[in-house]
Amino acid sequence: MTRVITIASGKGGVGKTTITANLGVALSHFGERTIVLDADIAMANLELILGMEGKSVTLHEVLSGEASIEDAIYEGPNGLRVVPAGISLEGLRNVKLERLEETLSHLIEDTDILLIDSPPGLEKDALAALAASDELILVTTPEVPTISDVLKTKIIASKLGVNIIGVVINREQHDKTFLTVDEIETILEIPVISIIPDDPEVSRASAFGEPIVIQNPKSPVTNAIMKLAADLLGEDYIPIEPDKKGVISQLIDGLMGRR
Ligand SMILES: Nc1ncnc2c1ncn2[C@@H]1O[C@H](COP(=O)(O)OP(=O)(O)O)[C@@H](O)[C@H]1O
Ligand SMILES: [Mg+2]
Repeated sequence: MTRVITIASGKGGVGKTTITANLGVALSHFGERTIVLDADIAMANLELILGMEGKSVTLHEVLSGEASIEDAIYEGPNGLRVVPAGISLEGLRNVKLERLEETLSHLIEDTDILLIDSPPGLEKDALAALAASDELILVTTPEVPTISDVLKTKIIASKLGVNIIGVVINREQHDKTFLTVDEIETILEIPVISIIPDDPEVSRASAFGEPIVIQNPKSPVTNAIMKLAADLLGEDYIPIEPDKKGVISQLIDGLMGRR
């Protein structure tokens, strides 16, 4: 049976799209037949992170009734299949979000996991993504304003009967002003299932259209995401050790052309 998992938060800019793209690649790496679907029709960032922008048929055209979902599936890294949202504003006017759930039912053949990148907020587009899913992963940064939005999303998801797997803390930094894991678990009453560090390499990789799990397999962010994928599948994951060399010797190696 296909697992339909939505990645949601409430607030924008906390890392939903980044996590959807990288987790999708990680799940494919473990051999899962995975599709990532960008349900953020207003923003459509998923295709940019995966370096797959500019596709002519996207979820826009599907939800507008102009194309079938089969024509909006593209092959991405590691055999991951991707349904981009599309960026044409023209399409936005005709989009019928009610069609999302029915559209997904056509996607789940030959698929083990369907990850849905949710839009922010709790408007009808975000609710459509929640309603279409069986399971939910919430994403938060360790800050109070973010967590209060995540809590609202959690409450609505519970009312919709979605199974909440847990919360991912993204952009974790060692800073005493941020919420701790215990505090986040107490506020949300769900387990923290992953802690992903703040790392400027994430944005850099995305800007080049390459998810960090591919760009840097040894990065602590990559290890956290691979471990999350393994945990979702009940598999083991042995983290790849980062290079033992210090920053200075790496820099010298770089300057000497030894890297
Ligand atoms: N762990 C991280 N460390 C550093 N920057 C990150 C991290 N996760 C996401 N970002 C950056 O934060 C910004 C928002 O991420 P995005 O995935 O688009 O959020 P959302 O989909 O929730 O709006 C992007 O510029 C992204 O590169
Ligand atoms: Mg997004």
